[in-house]
Amino acid sequence: MKPVKKAVFPVAGMGTRFLPATKASPKEMLPIVDKPLIQFAVEEAVAAGCTEVVFVTGRNKRSIEDHFDKAYELESELAFRNKDKLLAHVQDILPKNVTCLYIRQPEALGLGHAVLCAKAAVGDEPFAVILADDLIDAPQGALSQMMEVYRTTGSSVLGVEEVDPAETGSYGIVEISDLDGRQKIDSIVEKPHPDVAPSNLAVVGRYLLTPRIFEFLATIQRGAGGEIQLTDAIARLLKYETVFAYPFAGKRYDCGSKIGYLQATVDFGLKHPETEAAFRQYLHEVAAQLSKK
Ligand code: G1P
Repeated sequence: MKPVKKAVFPVAGMGTRFLPATKASPKEMLPIVDKPLIQFAVEEAVAAGCTEVVFVTGRNKRSIEDHFDKAYELESELAFRNKDKLLAHVQDILPKNVTCLYIRQPEALGLGHAVLCAKAAVGDEPFAVILADDLIDAPQGALSQMMEVYRTTGSSVLGVEEVDPAETGSYGIVEISDLDGRQKIDSIVEKPHPDVAPSNLAVVGRYLLTPRIFEFLATIQRGAGGEIQLTDAIARLLKYETVFAYPFAGKRYDCGSKIGYLQATVDFGLKHPETEAAFRQYLHEVAAQLSKK
């Protein structure tokens, strides 16, 4: 069984839900306190053992490349001013053994198409896909947890969690059955209406996939929303290979939505060493004001 060394980050989306903030800069660069969403996602992949990071980018995504690149002027300026801690922050964004690759997705044809764009970079190997706007706070990263399932089974694994049954129309939804104590996926459907959803178990932006997925990504037709859907390719893969759902331990924030983004900012602000005390104090004041209203 080949180890998972490559992680694909589809970052070509337009981020319309965060306009005007995302007019000229990518949604993946939105910070939670002081760290961009994409950096959280890359750190999760690296912690899970990935050493090759593949970004599938589009227009206006230059700042993602710059973020993971060496910043000569900034680094020499910080060194000159003896700002060692900040310098370390800037230099340690990626461990030295991790390489980055950037691939352009020429048209916004959907998540499945974005993953297919990474085919040449991934080759005949298992790989991870992480959607940076699903931020997962977990002591042992969600992808690391999923990696254990892959290592013992050699099968594809999708990170899942239960969502409000009214919200199935926003997710890939799976139907599962027990296989030796694991959750085997029997069917998967993209964004079903609550009336027809097979369950409320949703795929949340974490995938470990065997390379056979490319065979199906290359041949499926456009699906929900007129896009080439990763979910539809996984539905085909299910006919030939076992795919597991994995309900990871941890808290997920839907940072693709304003409310999820604000929730993440509050929770991370309460944990950040530079802000926790003052922010806690401020939230108490806010809570006191709210309780008067
Ligand atoms: C994508 C996938 C969907 C998945 C979701 C998780 O949808 O197509 O299956 O459940 O990510 O965030 P999107 O949110 O990009 O519309």
